[in-house]
Amino acid sequence: MSLPEPQPRFLRACQRLPVDTTPVWFMRQAGRYMPEYRRLREKYSLLEMVQHPELAAEVTLQPVHALGVDAAILFADILLPLIPMGLKLEFAKGEGPVIDNPVRSAEDVARLSPIDAEASLGYVLEAIRILRGELPPSVPLIGFAGAPFTLVSYMIEGGSSRDYRRTKTLMLSEPQLWAELMGKVASTLENYLLAQVRAGAQAVQLFDSWVGALSPQDYAVNVAPYSACVLKALEATGVPVIHFGTGTATLLPLMKQAGGSVIGLDWRIPLDQGWALLGGEVAVQGNLDPADLFAPLPVLRRRVEDVLRRAGGRAGHIFNLGHGILQETPVDNVRAVVEIVHEFNASQEGK
Ligand code: CP3
Repeated sequence: MSLPEPQPRFLRACQRLPVDTTPVWFMRQAGRYMPEYRRLREKYSLLEMVQHPELAAEVTLQPVHALGVDAAILFADILLPLIPMGLKLEFAKGEGPVIDNPVRSAEDVARLSPIDAEASLGYVLEAIRILRGELPPSVPLIGFAGAPFTLVSYMIEGGSSRDYRRTKTLMLSEPQLWAELMGKVASTLENYLLAQVRAGAQAVQLFDSWVGALSPQDYAVNVAPYSACVLKALEATGVPVIHFGTGTATLLPLMKQAGGSVIGLDWRIPLDQGWALLGGEVAVQGNLDPADLFAPLPVLRRRVEDVLRRAGGRAGHIFNLGHGILQETPVDNVRAVVEIVHEFNASQEGK
């Protein structure tokens, strides 16, 4: 008789169960800092890679093989759902995402198509199915989407922004239109993420990368209810839900209230302080500064160990960066972090 496979440590930590050693993965663990990614990228554009499930699966697996991480994150982009909604999205060289027809008026909002992920984002779901057949059982697959605020900010600004002026102007001057837009985006995201879970995603992360641009009051009134809609629908599926943002030191209690079984912390708040603000009744993910990966190894080691000490061996810590891996990051340093995290626990607990 064969024993059932033990649950992978990443999924155990998400549920705040004890683990043999702290699980670790990295936001943006696939990408241009990896030579094997750059080789594929010479032949295909980003959109070609994500829209071909075999290629997306291959890129997803690159960091799993190269780094020994405890979870895989699907290779896709938070902006993909905007394409079937009717926006003309491009990734311009050196500029990041550009949307040719941003959403600025009531007509623009009315024109946005509601989407059915199975029909219009089937390539993402197919990549998930392929990956579930290829990943070892110890490495769960994380699906993801952007959160309503972060996505809506791209839709309105037409690309990245420093001050979110147009986004905030619409939020403050046309509250009804804001509600309609956020509502449309939230139901699209709910549909998309539920489809990812049905396809086999074993956890999902909601990226509210730019939510730190908001005051707690604006977040509570104009944003959190829409994130909550998406998060609660996902929690009902039983898969762990990671709720991540940056610049969130003043938003953490509100983010926890909005939902998620794991809250992602950025590096601007010490991990123990962030966890305390959350009240402890939730798992946390984070929170090394991505720039620390450029430090000399002894400095990097001290910083990794500082994060781990602040977690203090409590159940429910997933090691990650406070935001995505930066371009030009030395791959050897990323690999070293995986080893330091895994060994730290083993040596501390005498296992
Ligand atoms: O984490 C992973 O390895 C999975 C893949 C992933 C990508 N984007 C691939 C990508 C994930 C999880 C994302 C999320 C994403 N995309 C976010 C949220 C996370 C964060 O970093 O805050 C955001 C804000 C985006 C939007 C986006 N996509 C921007 C701003 C850019 C340009 C920035 C850049 O690095 O050029 C992208 C492009 C993008 N998405 C790249 C990758 C690997 C670079 C693509 C390339 O040219 O090869």
